[in-house]
Amino acid sequence: MSEHQRLGILLSGRGSNFLAIADAIASGKLAGAKIVVVISNKADAPGLAAARELDLNAVAIEACGRKRAEHDAEIIACLRKHEVDLICLAGYMRLLSQEFIATFPQRILNIHPSLLPAFPGLDAQQQAFDYGVKVAGCTVHFVDEQLDHGVIVLQKTVPVLDGDDAHTLAARILEQEHIAYSEAIERVLSGKFRILGRRYLPQN
Ligand code: GRF
Repeated sequence: MSEHQRLGILLSGRGSNFLAIADAIASGKLAGAKIVVVISNKADAPGLAAARELDLNAVAIEACGRKRAEHDAEIIACLRKHEVDLICLAGYMRLLSQEFIATFPQRILNIHPSLLPAFPGLDAQQQAFDYGVKVAGCTVHFVDEQLDHGVIVLQKTVPVLDGDDAHTLAARILEQEHIAYSEAIERVLSGKFRILGRRYLPQN
């Protein structure tokens, strides 16, 4: 029996955060984890192709006009079949149903490219840039019923430089995302934390 903790990844796009997690596992930084399935709602997502190249289970479950509950039920079944311990949303561009969230309590993480609660939703880096903030960053959080809202596990900051545009800022944030996600996964998989209200508190 494998003693690894089993990760399921959900993505819709290029999958650079997924690849950073895979790299962390391969390099021993996240040695206790194993990616057991990568699921995408987009059959042509580059992240799904990258998963196949790494010989991982890569599954397309297209939404194609189906009701959210029905689509989610198929994803839940797939995650259950692969006995995942933790689900990592990595650029998954669909809201999860209440049932999905209730099925995996405190077992779904998301990464968002802003310092929440500032700039939830789409184009967070552009929102931050347009607002004129001087510090930006990313947030890894548990997923709850509200968009980009659940309990925060960790955040990383970057400066906004005078010469930036939204793209250079997004690239600086993305570098930190790639570090933050594996760190957050490691912390959560360790089980050494408790949640007090909205606060994630590490415990020894
Ligand atoms: C990242 O910026 C992530 O924070 C957001 O979606 C983007 C996904 O990028 N949720 P990638 O597909 O992981 O490269």
